Amino acid sequence: MKILNIVGARPNFMKMAPIVDALNRYPERFEHRLVHTGQHYDARMSQSFFDDLGMPRPDVDLGVGSDSHARQTARIMVEFEQVCEREQPDLVIVVGDVNSTVACALTAKKLGIDVAHVEAGLRSRDMEMPEEINRLCTDVICDYLFTTDPIADRNLRAEGVAEDKIHYVGNVMIDSLLKHREMASRLDMPGKLGVAPGEYATVTLHRPSNVDDPRTLEGILSALADIATELPLIFPIHPRTRKMAEQFGLADRFNEGGPARGLWITPPMGYLEFLNLNMQARMVLTDSGGLQEETTVLGVPCITMRENTERPITCEIGTNVLVGKDPDKILAAARAVLAGDTRPGKTPEKWDGAAAERIVQVLMDAQ
Ligand code: UD1
Repeated sequence: MKILNIVGARPNFMKMAPIVDALNRYPERFEHRLVHTGQHYDARMSQSFFDDLGMPRPDVDLGVGSDSHARQTARIMVEFEQVCEREQPDLVIVVGDVNSTVACALTAKKLGIDVAHVEAGLRSRDMEMPEEINRLCTDVICDYLFTTDPIADRNLRAEGVAEDKIHYVGNVMIDSLLKHREMASRLDMPGKLGVAPGEYATVTLHRPSNVDDPRTLEGILSALADIATELPLIFPIHPRTRKMAEQFGLADRFNEGGPARGLWITPPMGYLEFLNLNMQARMVLTDSGGLQEETTVLGVPCITMRENTERPITCEIGTNVLVGKDPDKILAAARAVLAGDTRPGKTPEKWDGAAAERIVQVLMDAQ
């Protein structure tokens, strides 16, 4: 079976790495190539993850870069169509919910190529979220829907997806986390940054709904500044967030100097560095999707600054709480964690490091 594996943006890399590993275990069954759309291109948003995850360099780089949604998606489709015509794959594997995911799924399907979506069935029910549109459009055309939890299975069934397309395999992002946990634990990021283990929190923030509106961004930054008076906050800042903060005249809310002076921003971190930091954090404040899952497995309290989540299982059984973007609620949630109001959380079934192997087994059974 000839497969094209697609990556494009930062959260794709740690999902694809275990799939590439698993396919490599069966060289007689699979021939595969890695295609990078180039949606993310900064060294710290892309290249460093290949190094950290031990993933081979992409065989093809479409080099599309940043643009409006329509232009970025269209450019990926135009470029990827040529790759499909040249490579003639039997299957295209897409992961997650970024523009690269839907662009490549749509291109392949229209050429009559089977498509597998890894992390299918997640739903936030929030159509203002570009990722929700990407998830819905991708799932509806895919041939293999690999899911992370039973809630995703139920979502797909409710949408009328045929039972034989749905495969509950677990969480490939957690495959990567479990594989690299020990390697990450050998780093000493708190020591390097001058904070004590367990005596700091990490922050990530990049969703358009949080960072593209000046008042919302200002409110969140003021809540974070308040928390930072009680606990050092380390905030590896996404390029989009930095750009918007500068545009809105809010860049003076950050400091780049160190932990003692409020909201401390750093450049985006590598996978192992950030994992090391999160493993030892008192809490994580985020609007990311993947971090809600990673903190659940690490048993670290997660405060999600969003009104909804496509990953409700992390709230139902994990360590995640949804607080929205109201500054008072963010502050109250952080204070509750500081006061010891936390729960240990449980890891969902099949988040055990073997999700990619299950995917490959399904593909072999189908051959
Ligand atoms: C994308 C995904 C989002 C994911 C996030 C992870 C979509 C619709 N969104 O959002 O789901 O959670 O990646 O990071 O696909 N930029 C750089 N360097 C880069 C990449 C981006 O400077 O390497 C800046 C550019 O100013 C760009 C902006 O970030 O315009 C947004 O990048 P884009 O890829 O459009 O979306 P993200 O916000 O990164």
